[in-house]
Amino acid sequence: NGHAAKEAKTRNILEKMDESDKNCVVFYGSQTGTAEDYASRLAKEGSSRFGLKTMTADLEDYDYTNLDSFPADKVAMFVLATYGEGEPTDNAVDFYEFISGEDVSFSQGAGAEEKPLSHLKFVAFGLGNNTYEHYNSMVRNVNKSLQKLGAVRIGMAGEGDDGAGTMEEDFLAWKEPMWSELAETMDLEEREAVYEPVFEVTERNDLDADSDAVYLGEPNKNHLEGTSKGPYNAHNPYIAPIVESKELFTDKNRNCLHMEIDISGSNLTYTTGDHIAVWPTNPGKEVDRFLKVLGLTSKRHTVIAVKGLDATAKVPFPSPTTYDAAVRYHMEICAPVSRQFVASIAQFAPNESIKAEMTKLGGDKQYFQDKVASMHLNISQLLEMMSGGETWSKIPFSLLIEAIHKIQPRYYSISSSSFVQNKKISITAIVDSVDIPGAPHVVKGVTTNYLLALKQKQYGDPHPDPHGLDYAITGPRNKYDGIHVPVHVRHSNFKLPSDPSKPIIMVGPGTGVAPFRAFVQERAQQAKKGENVGKTLLFFGCRRKEEDFIYEKEWEVYKEAMGDKFELITAFSRDGPKKVYVQHRMKEHAAEIDELLQQGAYIYVCGDAANMAREVNTIVGQIVAEQRGLPEAKGEQIVKAMRSSNQYQEDVWS
Ligand code: 2AM
Repeated sequence: NGHAAKEAKTRNILEKMDESDKNCVVFYGSQTGTAEDYASRLAKEGSSRFGLKTMTADLEDYDYTNLDSFPADKVAMFVLATYGEGEPTDNAVDFYEFISGEDVSFSQGAGAEEKPLSHLKFVAFGLGNNTYEHYNSMVRNVNKSLQKLGAVRIGMAGEGDDGAGTMEEDFLAWKEPMWSELAETMDLEEREAVYEPVFEVTERNDLDADSDAVYLGEPNKNHLEGTSKGPYNAHNPYIAPIVESKELFTDKNRNCLHMEIDISGSNLTYTTGDHIAVWPTNPGKEVDRFLKVLGLTSKRHTVIAVKGLDATAKVPFPSPTTYDAAVRYHMEICAPVSRQFVASIAQFAPNESIKAEMTKLGGDKQYFQDKVASMHLNISQLLEMMSGGETWSKIPFSLLIEAIHKIQPRYYSISSSSFVQNKKISITAIVDSVDIPGAPHVVKGVTTNYLLALKQKQYGDPHPDPHGLDYAITGPRNKYDGIHVPVHVRHSNFKLPSDPSKPIIMVGPGTGVAPFRAFVQERAQQAKKGENVGKTLLFFGCRRKEEDFIYEKEWEVYKEAMGDKFELITAFSRDGPKKVYVQHRMKEHAAEIDELLQQGAYIYVCGDAANMAREVNTIVGQIVAEQRGLPEAKGEQIVKAMRSSNQYQEDVWS
């Protein structure tokens, strides 16, 4: 168990590196696990290509006052995600505050002017999203702070952009020159990369999958056995009952789910505007495809024990388990396959011609884009195409554990008010299903389709594309007694003003309306209790009034409670000859919006980050400028200031 081991660990990174004979540490500041994955990849490549003795390290596991004693013959790498509005990830907060602090002080007492870190060689890569204003601010600021303290950077401070969808290519383009420079500086010799497993995977034919010692993907075994009471968090989800599921669209071709998750059996709490994390299960069809293409179908329920071959290797799931359970519950097998992964498995191809083709795909960015990336193929879909009727049984299972991301929870903006229902959380989610022209498979969102399948199971609907729930729910050891989903709550800063009489303006097309259902539900309740509720203005947009106008009847109920304090303005984009979006409606209501803003109204935007949220930002600037007779640039400045003072808040996704 990784956590028990954690407690006894030293917080002294120099000691740790000495103890485990390492000369390269890759620190990660990671929120959802992506930066952690990139850190592992760097560590692996450093050891297999250059013979570095590498380890990865969670930034929150160490202290940093002794960085001034970091030996000159070692190197520290930093892989840093920027979170939300330019903030450090939770695990990087302490490090960030320390290193960028005004009067940072180190063990040996030298001041910042004396360049206390002049022995420290570092490498830096950032993960960011250019649709946010403070793009990659973590890596930029840490880079600046380290250099100010005298540390010497090797290579560029790399910046990956999730907003443009180029993270992987940004990483690949950044790391090559970095490695050359590092090899030169540290006098490393590049060698033919040989695969060295990080984990030892042993088939335990002496153990039966039914045995109590074997994990079968229960997200939280102790909890299911009734021995855990929380706290429930990202490491320990609560297996919550789903008490209601319904379809919100009348459009027969698309689904939008409304679900009620019961948290009364837990000590979980939420407040209006928070997010709920849902832990998905992979679809049965894809699990089957994956096991089949690797030649593991007949061994799917064989028990395996997985252990790190090195003290710093963390096994990403509980062991012993089975191939089936590891793949179904712990590995992100439905994600698009990466070019680097393709390159790394070419050597294990079933035959020489497939090996040549895989090597070409792995080495040629454009070719890979045309053949694989544009088709959104996942690993097994690609391997299936590239199998020539054989299986890929030569790939070591350890490589798959290392290279495939750990399954991550997906976050949804809670669509209920904690003031109205504090032990029941509502989710509003469109079920993603994208048919890409020319692609061999429909691309389906893992979590929303999992939730849809749970609904279908609960209500006995036929489901033509089963999600593998028979395993998820019943399994060889059935501990579920109904429809449950593993969840935890993530607190957010997207909050109603504490004074209910303050006016608010909300902009939320599509499922961007989720948190605003919560806001309006809350204010309607306050109005009913006789409180003085301020103007509550909601801009909502969808395709057609008759198809996807979600919560149409509910808005009327809230209107009854709030009278003219609540106003809903709709934009149906596909009902008329011309597209009408929420922004167009905002323009029509420019005078009212500006008047409310002058009265101190809070404005909230939720939904698509790339286009909608940006355009709304621009429109608000224009409205302010026009209404107040100011130049457009001044309007933009006012919006900026509103953002800084939290008068303008966003909850957006890409
Ligand atoms: P469309 O799909 O007809 O283009 C919810 O998805 C609603 O948001 C739909 O009506 C959709 O319209 C609309 N929408 C799409 N792009 C948008 C944008 N850039 N700004 C605002 N709304 C947008």
